[in-house]
Amino acid sequence: MRYKASKYNYNAPLGENEYVWMNGVSGSAFKANREVHAQVQAILADPNNCVSEQERPLHDQLVSLGFLVEENFDEIGFLKLRSRIARYGNEGLGLGIMLTLNCNFACPYCYQWRVNKWMNDETRQGLIKYVGKMMEHKRKLVIEWFGGEPLLDISGIKKLSEQFVQICKERGAQYEAGITTNGYLLTEPTARELARLGVRKAQITIDGPPDIHDKRRVLRDGRPTFDVILRNLEGAVKYIPSVGIRVNLDKTNSDRFPELLTYLAPLKERLFIGIASVVPVRAAQEYKEFCFLDCDFLRTRCNLEQLLKNEGFLSLRGTITD
Ligand SMILES: C[S@@+](CC[C@H](N)C(=O)[O-])C[C@H]1O[C@@H](n2cnc3c(N)ncnc32)[C@H](O)[C@@H]1O
Repeated sequence: MRYKASKYNYNAPLGENEYVWMNGVSGSAFKANREVHAQVQAILADPNNCVSEQERPLHDQLVSLGFLVEENFDEIGFLKLRSRIARYGNEGLGLGIMLTLNCNFACPYCYQWRVNKWMNDETRQGLIKYVGKMMEHKRKLVIEWFGGEPLLDISGIKKLSEQFVQICKERGAQYEAGITTNGYLLTEPTARELARLGVRKAQITIDGPPDIHDKRRVLRDGRPTFDVILRNLEGAVKYIPSVGIRVNLDKTNSDRFPELLTYLAPLKERLFIGIASVVPVRAAQEYKEFCFLDCDFLRTRCNLEQLLKNEGFLSLRGTITD
């Protein structure tokens, strides 16, 4: 069998003697010391040049992780096909729904422009009709409630969810939903209601211990939100099976991440922690000076994911192996 290097291989230094390798098609990643890094580079540069017995295991691993692909494999064609299957196949329909672009928070780094716009009744009816039609050929409907802040329109979530659940019932299809929320309005009764409406996943952002979080994740009048969110989390984990905490890191808060874990420790078996970087895009462009360069973020995330593992927290990403 002849091989070529995938077009979607990436690597970045993690520190003095360590590199991380990623493949954008398979989603695989691994860490390599300087010596293995050099071997990987050599194999990828010339994958068919009679691999020695010593290099064979590494070569085989690069194949199984998708860093090496068969020479006649059309990666771009494969990606197009994968995207078309996801869009038009009968497996499932996935929709992200923004019922409002309004938000009760004013996070200084938010990439969205807050707009006082709400989905009107006509659009909602159109959406129900569209879902009804699409679900004639699908086995599963997956909805992500997004915003703005989606919980500003819990009644809209309720009305649409009930319709979606009904459509799925009639078609014998599975229904599942998730929500991306700042968590401020996610009281225990609301979490219970969301669970009743099929919400199985919630992602809530907490950016550090109280003094840090309360400078970044603030209400529109500047009031703090940490204590309310932490209290809400205790209720949410009772009803929503997968609650993820997203922590947005930049140069100003990454060193305080370990302290945040002490606040989350009592719930550690019920929460998934995901580390993200603040991205200076769209409305967040002025925040650029505080953002990490990609390679610095990668290094920080690797170290903090190791910390999560050592402390017994569940990570939202399990792809980086030692
Ligand atoms: C714009 S918010 C909308 C949903 C909801 N209001 C919330 O706070 O989760 C969606 C997600 O974007 C993240 N986010 C906002 N601005 C960001 C930025 N500049 N870089 C990275 N993530 C950002 C938030 O942490 C949140 O997880």
